[in-house]
Amino acid sequence: MTAPETLPATGREWHLTARPHGWPTPEDFALREAPVAEPGEGEILVRNLHFSVDPYMRGRMNDVKSYVPPFQLDRPMDGAAVGVVLASRHPDVSVGDHVQHGLGWREFATLDGGRATRVSAELAPLPAYLGVLGMPGLTAYAGLLRVGSLQQGDRVFVSGAAGAVGSEVGQIARLKGASQVIGSAGSDEKVRLLTEKYGFHTAFNYKSAPVGEQLKEAAPDGIDLYFDNVGGDHLEAAIARLNTHGRAVICGMIAQYNATEPPAAPRNLALVIGKRLRLQGMLVADHTDLQQQFVEEVSGWIRSGELVYDETVVEGIDQAVDAFLGMLAGRNTGKMIVSLPQ
Ligand SMILES: NC(=O)c1ccc[n+]([C@@H]2O[C@H](COP(=O)([O-])OP(=O)(O)OC[C@H]3O[C@@H](n4cnc5c(N)ncnc54)[C@H](OP(=O)(O)O)[C@@H]3O)[C@@H](O)[C@H]2O)c1
Repeated sequence: MTAPETLPATGREWHLTARPHGWPTPEDFALREAPVAEPGEGEILVRNLHFSVDPYMRGRMNDVKSYVPPFQLDRPMDGAAVGVVLASRHPDVSVGDHVQHGLGWREFATLDGGRATRVSAELAPLPAYLGVLGMPGLTAYAGLLRVGSLQQGDRVFVSGAAGAVGSEVGQIARLKGASQVIGSAGSDEKVRLLTEKYGFHTAFNYKSAPVGEQLKEAAPDGIDLYFDNVGGDHLEAAIARLNTHGRAVICGMIAQYNATEPPAAPRNLALVIGKRLRLQGMLVADHTDLQQQFVEEVSGWIRSGELVYDETVVEGIDQAVDAFLGMLAGRNTGKMIVSLPQ
């Protein structure tokens, strides 16, 4: 084994301690000290430097069967992380390598070296592998281009537009020839950012007036493609504005992740028939074959300055639940990241 002299004996990790009903509260979680396992044959020990808090994790807090298994009570939670290798018993991973892996929400992770991907801190800042060049970025890229079949000249509407996925969707749409890109977000400050920084043509604050009215005003000629991060009244408004043969990528429905009642909208689904709309759900995990193409194209745009991104970084493992709850409440611009002392 290659390792520095002393390895940590214990580390802190977040456990889910109760299943939330509606909005999670800090009392549903506990930060606990646990022994750090020494790597066995083929394993590595990683000190996490950054980890991700994502909307899909809310679903994992419910005890229901889904496309990702639920978090277990009183067990460490997990999710995307990047860190530095402290010890390795895997032939392809060396001490000091930076890796991305799936054991976030903790300070130290011991895992099969084959389940970690080496990442380069020279090619991109490490948190970018959790956001603009990571899972949310691939979601935006594959969702818009493959699932949504973006065409030159399309008029595109994106909800959750100042978040990790949405801000990238809007910019890729512009770069790939959309004739109009409209975004919605939950504050005037975010709306300004959409038009002034991310190059959206039009943007509105969904909290200041009904989405249907604001979208009608923003898109007098209708829309061809809707990228849905929100569901509910946003999806209803989009169905109303979609042109004949329009498409909607159903990526997320964050407006209902904490709801305790079924959503009231959309009430106009029957319009799908007459307009021959295509509403298609997507999961990023189905599109990993696009990973290399996505990273090459998006990192090129980042280098040329054509695509920009934000991160909201919360410092310290003890702040991770606040970061997660803050992300659900819209306190992030771009990707919400938890960073640990370097
Ligand atoms: N299908 C897939 O494979 C896949 C993969 C990744 C993500 N997703 C989905 O994509 C969406 C965005 O994910 P992300 O990681 O990029 O998160 P994000 O947009 O960076 O963060 C979540 C944002 O949702 C907005 N929001 C919260 N409650 C809302 C509500 N009631 N109505 C409207 N907006 C609300 C907040 O922004 P405001 O301030 O604007 O309200 C918040 O900043 C989520 O729905 C997520 O589940 C799906």
